[in-house]
Amino acid sequence: MIYLNNAATSYPKPKKVQEAVMASFSGPLVHASRTGMERDEDDILYVCRSKLADLLNIEDPLHIIFTSGSTEALNLALKGLPLEGGNVVISAIEHNSVIRPLKTLEKEGKISVTIVECDKNGYIEPQQFAEAIRDDTKAIVVNHCSNVTGAVLDIAEIAKIAHSAGAYIVVDASQSAGAVPIDCKNWDIDLLAFTGHKSLYGMQGIGGLYIKDGIELKPLKVGGTGILSELLLQPEGFPIHYEAGTPNTPGIISLYAGLQFIFETGLENIIEHKKKLYKILFDELADNPDIEIYSPKNEHTSYSNFCFNIKGMVPEEVGYVLEASFDIWVRTGLHCAPLILPYLGVEPWGTVRASHSYFTTEEEIYKFVEAVKKITIIPKRK
Ligand SMILES: Cc1ncc(COP(=O)(O)O)c(C=O)c1O
Repeated sequence: MIYLNNAATSYPKPKKVQEAVMASFSGPLVHASRTGMERDEDDILYVCRSKLADLLNIEDPLHIIFTSGSTEALNLALKGLPLEGGNVVISAIEHNSVIRPLKTLEKEGKISVTIVECDKNGYIEPQQFAEAIRDDTKAIVVNHCSNVTGAVLDIAEIAKIAHSAGAYIVVDASQSAGAVPIDCKNWDIDLLAFTGHKSLYGMQGIGGLYIKDGIELKPLKVGGTGILSELLLQPEGFPIHYEAGTPNTPGIISLYAGLQFIFETGLENIIEHKKKLYKILFDELADNPDIEIYSPKNEHTSYSNFCFNIKGMVPEEVGYVLEASFDIWVRTGLHCAPLILPYLGVEPWGTVRASHSYFTTEEEIYKFVEAVKKITIIPKRK
């Protein structure tokens, strides 16, 4: 099998991750007194928070809250911020994990939502956010990297625009964490959501939210914390205020191993490898008149997604033939990002998305290219 669906979930996981998860089940996953909330170098929760802080340039690791993934992190951010009575600016490249919580708040009459258009590759100039801001805008919520085309936005500039209007900047880094550099401190990000099972190489069911110091945020859930049990209300402070319930320790162990893999390999080497594969895809397929490519050819990209259609075929047909005849796994359809469709000109069926990882080989990419070329010569409907 050639796996080109890493934007959904990465496969394979590094050996280190597989071994760490297996080893975690050979002993009890809790200590006699559960902590996880402190600066304890022997505690996997703190050790993992610290590695995440190194990768994302976050000053205080305790300001990283573990969640089940980006979806929960974004729900925590969007339902917890004081947005009521205001406007929220989002973009056309958002995932449903941003669109649906905000559209629900809009339906309840609590906020209004403004959508900034993208270009035909999913890119948006920072200035477009400045033009969308209104007097009552309370937040810009934006996807750092499109899970459809792989377009990467300039978060540092968008954050400046949000702050100059007195609004929060909330970033969905689901596709970018572990794939492109992120600098929470210097970009002055207020809240950043990430997921563990994509380019961070961890398991499904683990992710988190970075919360900048001084941000007013209500917790999404309250309950047991293992410590301070005498308090009848959720304890204050980071991360305990936001982390009720038993943590996903195997997930955190996997995430830490994934982060170790990234540091040992070097993010720049991971990017370089993907860039090389991306170039092969464009060199081989960009001039083919039967193929429409939606991913950016310029530098505004994660180099991870090759988003395309074959003229005369719906994406599902292409995906079916790739899998049934060539054993190549891609993702087809809307990719949980419905707002981008008209800008790419791909309504109503969406696109085919082939997403490679550090583990994808050049040979696999050439096999994919050959398969796509063969599919283009299948006789098409008129
Ligand atoms: C851009 C984007 N946002 C949010 C999510 C949701 O992540 P998770 O399903 O891990 O919560 C995804 C995952 O597909 C994504 O690509």
